[in-house]
Amino acid sequence: MRRTWWKWGIYAGSIVALVASASFTIYCAWKVYAYHQPGEGATVKTENNEYHFVLVPEELDNDYWRLVEKGAKAAAKELGVNLEYVGPRQANIDEHIHILEKAAASKVDGIMTQGLTEKEFTPVINHIVEKNIPVVTIDTDAPTSKRTAYIGTDNYYAGFIAGRALVEDMHGKANVAIITGSLTASHQQLRVQGFKNAVKQEKGIRIVAIEESHITRVQAAEKAYNILKKHPEVNAFYGTSALDAIGIAKVVEQFHREKGTYIIGFDTLPETIHYLQKGTIHATVVQEPYEMGYRAVKTMVDIRKGNDVPSVTNTETKVIRKQDLPLRPSRNYEVKHD
Ligand code: BGC
Repeated sequence: MRRTWWKWGIYAGSIVALVASASFTIYCAWKVYAYHQPGEGATVKTENNEYHFVLVPEELDNDYWRLVEKGAKAAAKELGVNLEYVGPRQANIDEHIHILEKAAASKVDGIMTQGLTEKEFTPVINHIVEKNIPVVTIDTDAPTSKRTAYIGTDNYYAGFIAGRALVEDMHGKANVAIITGSLTASHQQLRVQGFKNAVKQEKGIRIVAIEESHITRVQAAEKAYNILKKHPEVNAFYGTSALDAIGIAKVVEQFHREKGTYIIGFDTLPETIHYLQKGTIHATVVQEPYEMGYRAVKTMVDIRKGNDVPSVTNTETKVIRKQDLPLRPSRNYEVKHD
């Protein structure tokens, strides 16, 4: 009898140890899983009941988007909002959509993103909104979706003023090559369309080529190189995303053609300003990335509080040239990597 009790004791002890170790393993596995889910854990509000918003840009480490992030973080700090900045390392629509879906699954309080293409982005935005998570589009609108508000440049207008600036600076005569961030993203298409409409009455302006950079300066440079080889008559470039004019400027200098080649680009990143000072880039379209980020967070808080918000807020857009430097306020232009 005594021997049986002793045996049962060992059995019971082993079972307890087994259950404890299995629970611990499950707990650790869950922790690891949860750690890898962007936005996961966001379902639980903090004691202060602060909001958890997610900002999803098309490219995480792009200097332009770092400025949007900076503005968004400033507003988040002011308003006590918990802000997450997650997105593809390099522009990639499938990954972008996947990240949006994950953020939606984790039930955050608001998502800010672009509406890059109607076909892919409108359904995912609508799906998020149907889950009662408000969406604010930023930089690139998705006007046919159920997003509550758009904050950013009027991209058609931005392209149009770029076209008018080129006509003015080139006195109505130029063989133009366009390098665009993407042939399929709606904001880039609008910037090209606006430009084309602005120059279409001008008999002396010819658009010779249009190529895509996938928003990288390397591909912008590669395309500019090929264009200059194939069309030596090109004497003007129009770059429609932040890094395009920078890539073009590098190549134009390599060809020693900076005297006879006009470049108009987008944005005011430090390298763009450098080439503008130097005279390789002649003009650029100013956007307000910091403001976009800042206002998007403020608008999202208003939405959550039930306040009315305008459905479209266009941030300021204008063309600047060397004589307009230095730029103020600098928060829209200075990229600090920390
Ligand atoms: C555009 C952004 C884009 C960036 C790429 C900017 O001009 O507004 O949408 O991601 O260029 O560098």
